[in-house]
Amino acid sequence: MRTPLVVGNWKMHGTVAEARVLATGLRDGLKRPRGVHVAVCPPFTALAAVSEILAGSPIQLGAQNCHHEPAGAHTGEISVPMLAELGCRWVLAGHSERRKEMGESDEQIKLKVRAILSHDLTPVLCVGETADERRQGLTFTTVEGQLRAGLAGLSADQIAKTVLAYEPVWAIGTGVNATPGQAAEVQGYLRGLLSELASKEIAQTVRILYGGSVKAENAEALMAEPEVDGALVGGASLNAQGFIGIVRKAARIGTAAKE
Ligand code: PGA
Repeated sequence: MRTPLVVGNWKMHGTVAEARVLATGLRDGLKRPRGVHVAVCPPFTALAAVSEILAGSPIQLGAQNCHHEPAGAHTGEISVPMLAELGCRWVLAGHSERRKEMGESDEQIKLKVRAILSHDLTPVLCVGETADERRQGLTFTTVEGQLRAGLAGLSADQIAKTVLAYEPVWAIGTGVNATPGQAAEVQGYLRGLLSELASKEIAQTVRILYGGSVKAENAEALMAEPEVDGALVGGASLNAQGFIGIVRKAARIGTAAKE
């Protein structure tokens, strides 16, 4: 049984003051979520404030990015030990916005995944095809390349400690989500690759989230797919009630699966 996981990616939104309001709303609205794990990834500048607010709450803290070195002359970068010190348990790696806007390569993403694991945090490795790639029939080729590169050189035990997020680029921030069938098809394919890279047993334990225009209205149908183990939520995570709605749907599915 894979406990559903819902991760909020706040992206470059919110001052510290705004982040405090959002985090307080989440903490007060999600006192004891059952059958679901929850994390939020605020901007770096708000991590310390949000960490304080969420201390003792079941909502865990994550970061949107990291550098792969623990320290050094890397102006403007943030390392995994710095994130761990602030209470982060999760770090996104390879989000499509970073691949596209910052030119992040598969090689860099691989190093980040390793760095995150080596400090006992959990990487959420994001993969996904563009609209053009889907039109050209390259969806599986693209996500397979990103997955193999991101997990290259990891042991089966390390793969067991990762989370994947399938985020079709055409669905991110567009309001057009993948259908549950489309998500399940690609995520089933990714799970097949995990069987090959680690083992069949481990592949069954790794959570694969779906991301791309998830909101309270479509979350249930998406997460009802057995291959969809939760959601990576951007825009809808900026509204406490909207995010709580998604978490509640995931919790219902997670609790039902246990019964
Ligand atoms: P979205 O973003 O929910 O706003 O589409 C998802 C993501 O980029 O992780």
